[in-house]
Amino acid sequence: MLRRRFKHNLSKPYPLYLPPPGLERADRVRLFYTGRLTLEFWRCQSPPLITKAILALRAGAHWVMETKAYWAAENFVDECLRELELKGAKVLWQNERLIYASHAPQSLAWANNTWLTPKKISITSISDGARQLRELGGRWTLASVAHHRRAQLIQEKLPRFKEHEVEFLAPLPKVRAGSWALIDADTILASPECTSPFPNGEIHFKEDSAPPSRAYLKLWEFFTLCRQYPKTGDTCLDLGASPGGWTWVLAKQLGTNVLSVDKAPLESRVARLPNVQSIKRDAFSLQPNDIEPIDWLFSDVICDPNRLYELVQLWLKSERVKNFVCTLKFKGATDFTAIEKFAAIQGSKLQHLSVNKHELTWWKVSPAK
Ligand SMILES: C[S@@+](CC[C@H](N)C(=O)[O-])C[C@H]1O[C@@H](n2cnc3c(N)ncnc32)[C@H](O)[C@@H]1O
Repeated sequence: MLRRRFKHNLSKPYPLYLPPPGLERADRVRLFYTGRLTLEFWRCQSPPLITKAILALRAGAHWVMETKAYWAAENFVDECLRELELKGAKVLWQNERLIYASHAPQSLAWANNTWLTPKKISITSISDGARQLRELGGRWTLASVAHHRRAQLIQEKLPRFKEHEVEFLAPLPKVRAGSWALIDADTILASPECTSPFPNGEIHFKEDSAPPSRAYLKLWEFFTLCRQYPKTGDTCLDLGASPGGWTWVLAKQLGTNVLSVDKAPLESRVARLPNVQSIKRDAFSLQPNDIEPIDWLFSDVICDPNRLYELVQLWLKSERVKNFVCTLKFKGATDFTAIEKFAAIQGSKLQHLSVNKHELTWWKVSPAK
């Protein structure tokens, strides 16, 4: 009965874009009253909470169903769609790299940026679009997926801000831009809040020509975004280290002591660094007891992710490693079963970095003290 009354109250005007699904269809519902969050609850809540919701609605609250939009990593739209399907989300709309979904998770491993508070806005002209965006927030990044020229003209009417090339370990931008797209000629999808501090989740570094491979950018991006990285004097094991981009970052830039392991040799100028010891060896044959306990284990080895999972389990169980950062590399179809196995490791995370190819970075890092 309560549910029926609740549904009845949903016939009040609601400001958003979605049809009013029944409570049983809405995973997560938020009630707003005079713009402020009044209640947030999940389906199958207790009757007292539903009663509270009804009272809030009677007092003039309106409901908003949780939606998110995702900016898929370049060439990985299908991976995002599959990830959403596996997480029980419902795709409401998709064009090129932009996916808009309900019942949606906070972030996706295969997306560069999640739009946390997407809103649909009807516009009557280019000037009206720019005005409404200006009213909603200060800075905006365009994610152009349709009506590119019209979208660009709106963007040109918004406050400009310079995108600087980022230095390794530079502080994250304090002022963040919202993201928006023109999804049809008269409708904007805009989110003032996004997960990435960088426009469309892409970080552009002031690059360095010294390291022997561009793989160093994976560690630069990871350390710069996560703000957790080895300290001078820490011990690091770098598996699949050749030609030496990661070892170069760890030894030369961060001043750690690195044991580099690869079947191929390190470039000699990296191997000659005083705080680098390199061994030519199969990374899978190295046992935790072969070396002293280490602060960080890194792996960029080209191998099947299931094989990497076994390696990670071996080192995890040994309790001789404090932190892990590994690249899962996929050949052909993306192995979602392997991804789920990694995702299930407690305290760990997976993310496609903007510099990653058909790869995900997986990490398990102890919180900074
Ligand atoms: C993408 S590269 C690593 C690049 C490196 N991280 C850098 O920054 O220069 C992958 C490396 O994995 C190594 N590799 C593949 N299988 C291996 C194995 N079983 N044991 C050790 N190294 C392996 C390859 O020799 C190759 O050097």
